[in-house]
Amino acid sequence: MDKTLTIFLSPDEVSAVVKRLAEELRAAYGAKDGAASGERARAPVMIAILKGAFVFAADLIRETGMQVALDFMRLGSYGSRDEPKDTVSIIKDIELDIRGRDVLIIEDIVDRGLTLKTIIGHLEQKGPTSIRVCSLLLRATSEQAGLVDFAGKSIDEGFVVGYGMDYKERYRELAGLYIITLDNAPGNDNGKGGGR
Ligand code: IMP
Ligand code: MG
Repeated sequence: MDKTLTIFLSPDEVSAVVKRLAEELRAAYGAKDGAASGERARAPVMIAILKGAFVFAADLIRETGMQVALDFMRLGSYGSRDEPKDTVSIIKDIELDIRGRDVLIIEDIVDRGLTLKTIIGHLEQKGPTSIRVCSLLLRATSEQAGLVDFAGKSIDEGFVVGYGMDYKERYRELAGLYIITLDNAPGNDNGKGGGR
């Protein structure tokens, strides 16, 4: 089956979005310029959600220049698209102690928001001071849009690949973001069904 990739954000446009988000994070967490000032920022524990957010997280932590601690979570979902009640399970938990810490979740895309709700519910039990969310992409239609504190770019529809995001484990290495469509497919589902 042939696939068509349509550019959504060029590498330069992705960089611009990451830069803007980094600025917002620095402002929100009170980061100050000059490490020598002795003024240590209230740097958050950043939790990147595997696998899709790993490229974004790598760029974002370097762009903020904040003294972050970094950890990872990985989730998986069961059930088919036709079944409204997908359940999300935790495949890999964080390893750092986040009690009394500010936590920033780093996501690639918040779609229905099921994954994000599961993550937040799980992390809340560990007693952090705050939990905020930074997502590169946000579906305009997401019921959980309100959970995202720092949103890169909103997207209406289309399945996105590149910059760490995959369709069936492909395209993660692309520097830009693309919408994938599957050609010659009767009942074309526009690429849905990959991801994470
Ligand atoms: P949600 O639980 O519906 O919000 O799904 C969120 C997760 O599904 C994201 O963390 C992604 O890993 C994956 N996902 C959703 N939409 C896309 C997409 O367009 N491209 C790649 N992955 C996606
Ligand atoms: Mg993801």
